[in-house]
Order: sequence, then structure tokens, then C-alpha cells
Amino acid sequence: MSIAVITGASSGIGREFAFKLRDIAKVTEFWLIARNVERLEKVRDELGVPCKIISADLTKSEGIDKYRTALEEEKLEISFLVNAAGFGVFGSFDVLSEDTVTDMIDLNVKATVLITHMSVPYMKNGGRIIELGSGSCFTPLPHFNIYSSSKVFVLHYTKSLNYELRPYGVRATCFCPGWVDTAFLPKSLDAPGAYVPKSMKPLLDVSKVVEGCVRASIKGRAMYVTNWYTKLQHLLFKLVPDCILTKLWLGMLKKNEEKSAEEK
Ligand SMILES: NC(=O)c1ccc[n+]([C@@H]2O[C@H](COP(=O)([O-])OP(=O)(O)OC[C@H]3O[C@@H](n4cnc5c(N)ncnc54)[C@H](OP(=O)(O)O)[C@@H]3O)[C@@H](O)[C@H]2O)c1
Repeated sequence: MSIAVITGASSGIGREFAFKLRDIAKVTEFWLIARNVERLEKVRDELGVPCKIISADLTKSEGIDKYRTALEEEKLEISFLVNAAGFGVFGSFDVLSEDTVTDMIDLNVKATVLITHMSVPYMKNGGRIIELGSGSCFTPLPHFNIYSSSKVFVLHYTKSLNYELRPYGVRATCFCPGWVDTAFLPKSLDAPGAYVPKSMKPLLDVSKVVEGCVRASIKGRAMYVTNWYTKLQHLLFKLVPDCILTKLWLGMLKKNEEKSAEEK
């Protein structure tokens, strides 16, 4: 029996991981975690394999404890852990509320670490962990600061973990996609007072990028960067001073802002 635990399984990338792990890695049972039970039940019905649904807000300690309790009760052996629960909001320091900033850090960083930390003891040789980084973790990004900084943490955390877990035969992969066609971007741009760049295209196909990541994870890669422009971003990050890359990002935001103004 092969069991996968997926946070953020109710939509987008997390949901897609369930289908790809079923088809490619032959996972036979899932623990699906997110807040929206109806959407989780829909994923369960479409998957057609046994699923345990855990409805939990992972920004809250009660949400994290729900998973901890279930693990302690069922003592399952985890083959794959995917931490896909996450969100980002565009906006500079003066428009993002303290709650938004805290929730972003609590979900993208704290919950990712805690869920991983409590899952590792239930993983055996061959176990795989996939943490959601982002193409945005390669460059300092003003007006997307908290989100991109949270993903820098995830990148370093995962790469280090990959070394720490090697002696146990468990590997951790940081998944760094560019902009993917999910609910993520519309939600990121929808926040009141957010800095709103309108054209963030081209958006990547969720099925393709998740399939690539599952294969990279099985091979035990420390990082999976999706497409050519995210790979280029990653390369430039190593070669070009980040002040230049940040200026390019600001130039892109300005263009988008001008376009937005024209559209109004
Ligand atoms: N799409 C992109 O362009 C992109 C690019 C790079 C990285 N990523 C990363 O990929 C991950 C998945 O994003 P996505 O594109 O699939 O976006 P999405 O479709 O909005 O999915 C986000 C998932 O996180 C869950 N979630 C949000 N807040 C939560 C909370 N407080 N507690 C528990 N679960 C919560 C959501 O479920 P509920 O609402 O049901 O709780 C949903 O299942 C995120 O970590 C994101 O940072 C996305």
C-alpha cells in the first residue's frame, strides 16, 4: 500500500498532485487536507481510491493539531508528502494588513515546516517530500515581498532537508514553478489595496508541471524548476546581481500598472 498526504488538495497544484501520484507513482490511498470540505470530497470522488479528508485551517494551531492527532491515531506509513497549501498577496508594506502578512508566513512557512516535521517519523526508505517553492524565490520582489521571501525560506529549508534525510533514504524536492494556471494568481491580485499587475502571462499548464515534479521527486532531485523562463530566472539569479533583476521586476510591474490604468 502506498499512501500520500497532500495539503492544499482542494484545488490547483495540490489537487493535481493527487491525480499524478495515483497515475504515475501508483499511490493507492490519500490524506487530503485543506479548509473546503466540499471541494476535498469532490477530489476524493474523482480519484476513486480510499481518501481520508482532513478539513483544517493550517494557519491555526488547531488545524495543525488535527493532522497531528490523526497521525498519532492511525500511525500510517507515508510514501509521499506534498505541502501545497499556500497563498500570496501582491501589495507593498503599507497596504498589506498585519493579519494578511502573518497568515502568509504561518501557512507558507510555519505550517510547511510543522507538517513536514511531524510526518518524517512516519516515512521509510524511499519516502518522498515535495515542498512548494516558487519561481519568485530566486529574486527579491518588491510588492510581492512577503510571499517571495516565504518561498526563499522553503527553498533553503527543502534543500537542507534533502541532505539531512539522505541517510534514511527519504528525499525532499522543492518545486519551483513559474505562474501556473490555477486560482492562485487571480486570488493574489484580488486583495484590497494590492498592487495589481494585470498580465502575468504565459500561465503554465498545471497537469504538465505537476507531472514533471512527480518524476523529479521519484528521482530524488532537490529542486524542480518548471519551464524555460523560470529556468532562465534561476540561472540569471546566479549570474546577475539581484539589484538588476529587481529593477527588471519593477519595470514589469510599472508596465502592468500603466496597462491597468489604460484599461480603466
Ligand atoms: N499558481 C502559481 O502560479 C504558483 C506558482 C508558484 C508557486 N505556487 C504555490 O503552489 C501552491 C499551491 O497553489 P495553487 O496554485 O494550487 O493555488 P490554489 O489553487 O489557490 O490552491 C491553494 C490551496 O491551498 C489551500 N489553502 C489556502 N489557505 C489555506 C489554509 N489557511 N489552510 C489550509 N489550506 C489552505 C487551498 O484550499 P482551501 O481554500 O480549501 O483551504 C487550496 O487547496 C502554493 O503554495 C503556491 O504558493 C503557485
